[in-house]
Amino acid sequence: MNGQLPTLNEPSPNAMITAEELLEHAAADEAIVGLLEALYIGNQRLLTSMLGMLRADQIVEYLDTVRAIWRVLSAMGRDSQTARLKEAVAGLQFHSIDFLRRQATFVRTGDYQAEDAQAVYEEVYCSESVMREYLDGLLLTYIAWPNHYRLLQFYRNRYLSKEPRGRCLEIGPGHGFLALLQLQADSGNTLLGVDISPHSVAFTDELLTVAGIDRARFEICEGDATNDFAGVTGRFDRIVMAEVIEHVEQPQTLLRSAVKHSHPETLLFLSTVVNIEAIDHLYLYRSLDEVREMVDECGLAIVDELDLPLEFADAPADSFEVALVCRPQPQ
Ligand SMILES: C[S@@+](CC[C@H](N)C(=O)[O-])C[C@H]1O[C@@H](n2cnc3c(N)ncnc32)[C@H](O)[C@@H]1O
Repeated sequence: MNGQLPTLNEPSPNAMITAEELLEHAAADEAIVGLLEALYIGNQRLLTSMLGMLRADQIVEYLDTVRAIWRVLSAMGRDSQTARLKEAVAGLQFHSIDFLRRQATFVRTGDYQAEDAQAVYEEVYCSESVMREYLDGLLLTYIAWPNHYRLLQFYRNRYLSKEPRGRCLEIGPGHGFLALLQLQADSGNTLLGVDISPHSVAFTDELLTVAGIDRARFEICEGDATNDFAGVTGRFDRIVMAEVIEHVEQPQTLLRSAVKHSHPETLLFLSTVVNIEAIDHLYLYRSLDEVREMVDECGLAIVDELDLPLEFADAPADSFEVALVCRPQPQ
């Protein structure tokens, strides 16, 4: 032991666990065994990297996250539990397979495929069938993709744990799970969510409702946040834009609006990607420095950062997930 604490960026030491061991740990909790079996036995190939990341001493925390996500996902919709499980896992397969295909094309062409914001709006955000799979699947990536799981840990441990509390704004809540954690982190937090997709708005609203959050504590509105945060007024104590800035043509508009709606103590959480493709990615960050420079030019100071290289066979060396905790730059 060299006296240094392990950081979130470090790969786990050698102890790879098996799907069977994971299921043994979960055996007492019937509610999640079905999900884990569907994920880890039904989709072994897709989940190998998640198993590769988990160390034995992380299983309890991991299963708590699985439980928290499945509790809300399984309570949503009118389907039987079996049908709901099938539907949600199909969403994860959609995300994972679509991502692998698109990323392979991106590596060849060097460009994202989505045409423009209007096309993404019509073909993705307004499509009920696409968004159902998209949102179920995206939420499951937080327990199925190592980098998304690490991102969620960073969000909890290095963002939610910090002051101030109070009025929270989330741009692009999508499935709404990050909004839920923010509301659960402190009973004094209230939340306004703005999302361009009517399906994301409905999904987030339903997720917060089934989780038992008092309706007086949140409001989720439909709107294009690139347009001055869709008319939101006032300043917020906390602002979250997770996996959103790469989904617009000019991320600067969102970053500048975030500064405008901040006060000097506001704590912001941003996450985005560098050289990672998806069905609705529009703005291509080609390096971590490009992200940092844009954030700085728009008036935000980075106070904490997590960089996660994309880890699979033919991933380009400069592909990253990145999460930032920021404050407005002092005036
Ligand atoms: C990848 S999801 C992110 C969901 C969640 N924040 C997360 O980190 O998992 C992107 C979300 O941003 C929303 N979005 C995209 N462009 C937007 C815009 N211009 N204004 C508001 N929301 C937008 C999409 O509808 C979608 O719900």
